[in-house]
Amino acid sequence: MSNELYRAERIMARINDLASISDDANGIARTFGTPAFLKGRSKVQEWMQEAGLQTRVDNIGNLRAILPSAVPNAKTFVIASHIDTVINAGKFDGPLGVLMGIDLLEQLIQTKQALPFHIELIAFCDEEGVRFHTTYLGSKVVAGSFDESVLDKKDAAGIALWELIRQIGGDPKKLSQDAIPPNNWLGYFEIHIEQGPVLYERGIPVAVVTAIAGQRRITLGFKGMAGHAGTVPMNMRQDALCCAAECILTIEAFATDHVKDLVATVGKLEVVNAASNVIPGEVTCTLDLRSANEAHVTAAYKFIQTVVADICKRRMVTLTWNLVQQTAPVSCSPQLNQWLAEAVQNTGHELVELVSGAGHDAVPVSAVAPVTMLFVRCYKGISHNPLENTELKDIVATIQVSDNFIQQLIQHHS
Ligand code: HGY
Ligand code: MN
Ligand code: MN
Repeated sequence: MSNELYRAERIMARINDLASISDDANGIARTFGTPAFLKGRSKVQEWMQEAGLQTRVDNIGNLRAILPSAVPNAKTFVIASHIDTVINAGKFDGPLGVLMGIDLLEQLIQTKQALPFHIELIAFCDEEGVRFHTTYLGSKVVAGSFDESVLDKKDAAGIALWELIRQIGGDPKKLSQDAIPPNNWLGYFEIHIEQGPVLYERGIPVAVVTAIAGQRRITLGFKGMAGHAGTVPMNMRQDALCCAAECILTIEAFATDHVKDLVATVGKLEVVNAASNVIPGEVTCTLDLRSANEAHVTAAYKFIQTVVADICKRRMVTLTWNLVQQTAPVSCSPQLNQWLAEAVQNTGHELVELVSGAGHDAVPVSAVAPVTMLFVRCYKGISHNPLENTELKDIVATIQVSDNFIQQLIQHHS
């Protein structure tokens, strides 16, 4: 068996092992700081230690390991992805990049590779932003851009972020100590499933990411008038749910018909004090807007805010509109991408370059370091879904490309 196939099989076994750890008996769920998250992180920590790495958990909950260089004042190259998941998640979104990182570093240790730079492997604790609806919490700490005002954000159970950090052993007052100083960064490399259909459709295992779409996350509140389902005539209602529904379908039509590279998603909707015989008086929902073109997402944001306000006014429903998260589109490093593209071609694979519609921890890191990402084919592009799947042969291809990329990095910096 080839070294790469053996390594790929171990990565796949660990993917499945980690996937068996969940807060939900019916699917995969390891959101930030939950018991399954902590159990899964411990499992990944064990694998890092088995590889010969010294590990630590930082104050927000990232799991980190450094493979040191003997060169004095060496800079740090980070290989990372996330270990938190969405609800009813797939097995690969996040963990693939972390487990690949462990494998790549173990290979360097076993071949006694002298490094001209430190390599820090990081398993970020909250990329998805499911629990506190604001994403990149772990990578923002490492990038030095963590906004302390989010520490007071509460999850659905009313637990504040700062409380959770303490509960899981961190100190919310020491987060800034966990940043890698801007001038210490050499670069950042993340391996991640594509979460889109292009590689699957084209029958190609990997792609180099050129840019990552910008995104806005908004929470909307609709306050009408609760009432008796049997007695209030239709023309006298202030139905918060019908108002929200009209807004949601209007947003969908706008994103579908009017802007070519905009996507809009309402992923969560809640009817407050819901009952089958009560006219909904209050509804909340989320809105996720994305585009690789900042002007498009800004124009769409303004248009949607206006059109939603008009619908609410006509229906005598009070609207609250809260922008929770905003990230501009990110360009990946031309130099790192060139080396990664050469690694793809050096290992006999066709070069494909893609823009990522999904957000990644590379986004906050790009403010302080050059970033590059390698996408890996996944089944029909399905993700954030238990059907998410990547084949062994594509993990072999990813190992080949990543080994070659790291060797190029070492050569170019020696
Ligand atoms: O939402 C995203 O783009 C990513 O999965 N966090
Ligand atoms: Mn992800
Ligand atoms: Mn995701």
